[in-house]
Amino acid sequence: MDRMLLESFPFRIIEGLMIAGFATKATQGIFYIRAEYPLAVSRIRSALEQCYANGILGNTVCGTQFSFNIRIFEGAGAFVCGEETALIASLEGLRGTPRMRPPYPAIKGFKGQPTLVNNVETLSLVPWIISNGAKAFNEIGTDLSKGTKVFALAGKISKGGLIEVPMGITIRQIVERIGDGVADGREFKAVQIGGPSGGCIPASKADTEIDYEELAKMGAMMGSGGMVVLDDSDCMVDMAKYFLTFTHQQSCGKCTFCRIGTKHMLNIVTKLSEGKATLADIDELESLGQSVRNGSLCGLGKTAPNPVLTGLRYFREEYEMHTRGKCPAKKCRDLVKYVVTDNCTGCTKCSQECPVNAIPFNPYEKHEIDQALCTKCDNCRIVCPENAIEIADVNGQN
Ligand SMILES: Cc1cc2nc3c(=O)[nH]c(=O)nc-3n(C[C@H](O)[C@H](O)[C@H](O)COP(=O)(O)O)c2cc1C
Ligand code: SF4
Ligand code: SF4
Repeated sequence: MDRMLLESFPFRIIEGLMIAGFATKATQGIFYIRAEYPLAVSRIRSALEQCYANGILGNTVCGTQFSFNIRIFEGAGAFVCGEETALIASLEGLRGTPRMRPPYPAIKGFKGQPTLVNNVETLSLVPWIISNGAKAFNEIGTDLSKGTKVFALAGKISKGGLIEVPMGITIRQIVERIGDGVADGREFKAVQIGGPSGGCIPASKADTEIDYEELAKMGAMMGSGGMVVLDDSDCMVDMAKYFLTFTHQQSCGKCTFCRIGTKHMLNIVTKLSEGKATLADIDELESLGQSVRNGSLCGLGKTAPNPVLTGLRYFREEYEMHTRGKCPAKKCRDLVKYVVTDNCTGCTKCSQECPVNAIPFNPYEKHEIDQALCTKCDNCRIVCPENAIEIADVNGQN
């Protein structure tokens, strides 16, 4: 979402940064952009060059006494370097790890100087607010969360993409009106809001108005503005495993709760996905999640348990089914098998597409899958013209 803003509206963000500098009497602005976003870096660089060439930036901004210079710092892409104190450490050439606050960066930040850290989207809104007035901005949104919010709408949705919506819009309005719902024949299950540390909000709560306060009450957060729509083919345990793998890898390792706690959580979630966990493991997972949230120093560790904690809050039954060896979404590889039904006409397509020769080539006969060889790659199900290949519970039921 921020990358798109940097690539599409570089001048708007530069203007927001200059206004922020003017308001705080700062003379230096820095764009901290991860190096993996080369287009964002080059668009901002070219926009800055144009501003300098036209006297908009420099020691006499637009011929005034105001001096403001902006440079770009390319970060190596660690998630934790988005945390403001880690970001500043990284800017100073130190290892990008968070530190205790206070002192907050506003008091003691970059090179010991007062430093304002703001998000790209925040800065991009400032020129509009100055031009149209705070009153006009405050007319959009809810009592406490004003204005609009950009979301990266993705997942099992007919029309994905970047959307700008007023605060207070409901999840259902976004999913059904803007995203045009989930695919035909599928059921809207949940939305994962806020990026890898966000929470999963079930479809039953889709009429909730989106703002900072409501999301926090539901165990989710606005975060990076990611909004992933899930349908009934998505497994909450599998989702939690995916996000926890990421946050665990990205932990800077400074605090034990985050470094070791997320690892223990990931171990339990992995056991669940393999059908090897017990109900007691689920209780331990929940208690660990609370400890990691409460005991971690920075936002990464504090929010990493969100996918698990919201999963347990809204989809506990689904977690418990995994202890009985069942994945209702048929997503967890160890809990499913591929089977050929009687609809098979013996066309041999599956046999030809199987990368591990798990389906013997038997023209005009019902095909069979060798479970010992099958890697569950899904190829055969995709190519079968008769929809004769199904994913079944490993214990045999469809
Ligand atoms: C682990 C972690 C990653 C973050 N990543 C980003 C990021 O990529 N971009 C960003 O603008 N803020 C990120 N933040 C939030 C910033 O530290 C900071 O709070 C925010 O940019 C403040 O801007 P705002 O008040 O304008 O929203 C991250 C925070 C944490 C804890
Ligand atoms: S919470 Fe995690 S990422 Fe944050 S300082 Fe502690 S170990 Fe590092
Ligand atoms: S799922 Fe993949 S590996 Fe398994 S039988 Fe089908 S094509 Fe072969």
